[in-house]
Amino acid sequence: MSDKIGIRAATAADAEAVDTIIRAAFAGTDFGHQGEAELVRMIGEDGDALVSLVAERDAAIVGHVLFSRMAVEADGARLAAAGLAPVSVAPAQQGQGIGDALIRAGLAALCEQGVAISFVLGHESYYPRFGYSPDLAARFASPFAGPHFMAMMLDSDAAWPLGGRADYAPAFGRMG
Ligand SMILES: CC(C)(COP(=O)(O)OP(=O)(O)OC[C@H]1O[C@@H](n2cnc3c(N)ncnc32)[C@H](O)[C@@H]1OP(=O)(O)O)[C@@H](O)C(=O)NCCC(=O)NCCS
Repeated sequence: MSDKIGIRAATAADAEAVDTIIRAAFAGTDFGHQGEAELVRMIGEDGDALVSLVAERDAAIVGHVLFSRMAVEADGARLAAAGLAPVSVAPAQQGQGIGDALIRAGLAALCEQGVAISFVLGHESYYPRFGYSPDLAARFASPFAGPHFMAMMLDSDAAWPLGGRADYAPAFGRMG
């Protein structure tokens, strides 16, 4: 097995392989449902996928990350925003930096699109290494507010907004 991991934009032809990776990655978690594959499909159909990347090893897809459009208002103005969810790595290949590479490449792609802020709902021991902070997210009203809700400015020199509201793409509201 090659050590080399390639990261590239997902295409329509990857849909089945991406679906399989998401189901496999989440089967081993305590989340207790397999809704993430369905969520990714709905976000794509709604046109709300901003960045969707796959990781490949030996020409096989071993990971996927999606960043979707959010509706964010900060200090009275709209801010271009993306939610990170879900990120999935094939169970046998976790812990080798693939999730890390996918997230960093995704954040770089969002920067190029002019996205100003990203949010994630996840583990507080994992996402701060990329720059996500619960303190920034706490400034935003959201149905997901809580200790696992984190945010980062994509330009690390940008001033933090004082407050606002952050809503995920409509597909999240249709999750069972
Ligand atoms: C989370 C996930 C994408 C990380 O990808 P990965 O390629 O295994 O991660 P990396 O190799 O880049 O990083 C490994 C680090 O992540 C940590 N990590 C992995 N899963 C974690 C989790 N659920 N909670 C907290 N930390 C986690 C590991 O402890 C390790 O930490 P360390 O670097 O301090 O040792 C992958 O483990 C996965 O697909 N998990 C199942 C699906 C999931 O829970 N997705 C996140 C919710 S959207």
